[in-house]
Amino acid sequence: MSFTRGRDAATITTDSAAGAQSLTLDSLVKTYAARGREEFTAVKGIDLAIEPGELVALLGPSGCGKTTTLRMIAGLETVTSGSITIGDREISDLPAAKRGVGVGFESYALYPPMSIRENLLYGLKARKVAGAEQMVDSIAARLEMEDLLSLRPAALSSGQKQRVALARALVRNPPVLLLDEPLSHLDASARNRVRRELKVLQREFGYTTIVVTHDQVEALSLADRLAVMANGVVQQFGTPDEVFDDPANLFVAQFVGEPQINVLPGVVRIVDGRTRVEIGSGAGYLESSASSVRNGESVTVGVRPQDCSLARGTREDGAGVGAEVAWFEHLLEFGLTTSTVRGMEEGIVTVTPAQDIHEAEERVVLTASPERVYLFDTDNGDRLR
Ligand SMILES: Nc1ncnc2c1ncn2[C@@H]1O[C@H](COP(=O)(O)OP(=O)(O)O)[C@@H](O)[C@H]1O
Ligand SMILES: [Mg+2]
Repeated sequence: MSFTRGRDAATITTDSAAGAQSLTLDSLVKTYAARGREEFTAVKGIDLAIEPGELVALLGPSGCGKTTTLRMIAGLETVTSGSITIGDREISDLPAAKRGVGVGFESYALYPPMSIRENLLYGLKARKVAGAEQMVDSIAARLEMEDLLSLRPAALSSGQKQRVALARALVRNPPVLLLDEPLSHLDASARNRVRRELKVLQREFGYTTIVVTHDQVEALSLADRLAVMANGVVQQFGTPDEVFDDPANLFVAQFVGEPQINVLPGVVRIVDGRTRVEIGSGAGYLESSASSVRNGESVTVGVRPQDCSLARGTREDGAGVGAEVAWFEHLLEFGLTTSTVRGMEEGIVTVTPAQDIHEAEERVVLTASPERVYLFDTDNGDRLR
């Protein structure tokens, strides 16, 4: 991987796979020893095998250990136990500068007396990188920040600082790139554009990349694979489709997906070897493809609003749950219909076609295909398959 020289020095090529490196985390643990307080384990044994050139999003709520994981990979935080390997080189004990890892932490210091252009060029010139000026111009143009190049760091807004941090990580051309919430301070339209450009640049450079985010849209749109984290543990590692279509547990099902998945209490009835889950009091049932459940077992049922169908009328025989429309929102391309079921407090949200207008108090029947009716252990949230 290099920048081509000559006529178009700023053209970025991925001319060899040599630059792209795998990144492997093996049972990675971080325990913070807080003075005077109990020690706290922020990262509880993470295993991740990231392919060369892959873009992985670490997605999870605030405090789940995303930044801690990134800082251990970058060498900004010691590893309590476990290992970090880039290619076939174990780097867990190497100083940060020797790891071949680029970081786009926003807090990373810029030199105040130098312009942004000089800041971006600083490391490149020291390493006598050919075409450094053109590289900086090209990346600045791609990130829509040419107008920032002549400014001093103190003049930047937080969104601008964030773009500079991203540019700085990119121009260093590392085999592994780590970005912590790289777009969080950009306004909505700039965020969409920079997000697209970031993905294109990542592909062109071929960096193995981890992007930390708590924003599922960012994670779903950027990532080849997502690692969904909670409480210092990776809950599921898979493509966006795998995570959305086949959630490993209730946490993942609820964290990924918009509008949020419906979560309902249900009771299993096995009839003719098929799994039914009864919903509400006598309101009906949904069929589920889950088979590792017992007759009479109480479970937690998850059905995505996109996977629910709603028909007008009252329930008769067969699968379906009788409900009453409580609330209808018309959102141009689709509708969101909230219906209530007898014996259940929370409403069930359904994405309905744009042309279907529903009214409060209308009687409806909810159905879903069995493979889209997920069952979870009510005690620990594990998926019951
Ligand atoms: N230096 C530290 N000392 C003690 N606890 C810390 C330290 N840094 C982070 N933590 C704690 O570790 C947990 C994970 O933090 P962090 O990795 O920053 O989460 P995230 O980036 O997912 O929001 C949090 O509970 C946080 O308070
Ligand atoms: Mg963080």
